[in-house]
Amino acid sequence: VTTQGFTVAIDGPAASGKGTISRAVAEHFGFAHLDTGVLYRAVGAKVILGQDAESAAKTLVPEDLTNPDLRTPDVAQAASMAAAVPEVRAALVDFQRSFAARAGGAVLDGRDIGTVICPSAQVKLFVTATADVRARRRFQELSGNGLETSFEEVLADVQARDARDMGRADAPLKPAHDAIEVDTSDMAIEDAVAAAISLIKAAM
Ligand code: DC
Repeated sequence: VTTQGFTVAIDGPAASGKGTISRAVAEHFGFAHLDTGVLYRAVGAKVILGQDAESAAKTLVPEDLTNPDLRTPDVAQAASMAAAVPEVRAALVDFQRSFAARAGGAVLDGRDIGTVICPSAQVKLFVTATADVRARRRFQELSGNGLETSFEEVLADVQARDARDMGRADAPLKPAHDAIEVDTSDMAIEDAVAAAISLIKAAM
C-alpha cells in the first residue's frame, strides 16, 4: 500500500469527537495531522486583539498557532465569525492543501475538508453527535481546565457556532456526498476510534 498523498478528511461540528479521532488515526497509520480549526482560532485570537480578519489570515505565522488562549470559548466564537469571511477562508486554502499532499499521508480535520479543501481525499468521515452530548463533553473539558462556566452557557455557545458554521454561504459545514457518517452520541471514544480505523483500512 502506498500512502503517498493518502488523505483522510474528517469533518464535523464542535466537540463531535473529530479531534480525538483524528489524532488517534494519525498516530495509528503514522500520518501527519492538521487540526484546521487552529488556523481559524489563530485568526479569531488576532481579531480579538483588534486586527481585521482578512489581514489576520493573510499574515498568520507559526507562532500564532501556539497561542495558549486558542482553546477558550471567546476565541472559538471569534474563529467561527472570522471563518464566515470568504477572504479569510481563501487565505488558508494553499497551506491546507500542501499539508494534505505531503508524502506519508495526512489527516486533516475541520468543517470543509471533504467538501472544499480535499474533495478527492481517499477517505472522508463526517463525525457527529447530538448538541446535548457535545455540550456535555465540552462542559466537562472546560470545567476540567478550571474555566468557570455552566452547561447551559456551553450548550448555547455550541448551538450558536453550529448555526453559524452550517449557515454561512462559503464552505458551510455539511457532509460531502461521499462521506461516511460516524455518530458518536452513544459511543465510547475508543469504539469511535476503532470504527474510523477500520473504515480507513478498508479504503487502502
Ligand atoms: O474545530 P474548531 O472548533 O477548533 O473550529 C473553530 C471554528 O473555526 C469553527 O467554529 C468554524 C471554523 N472552522 C472552519 O470554518 N473550517 C474549518 N475547516 C475548521 C474550523
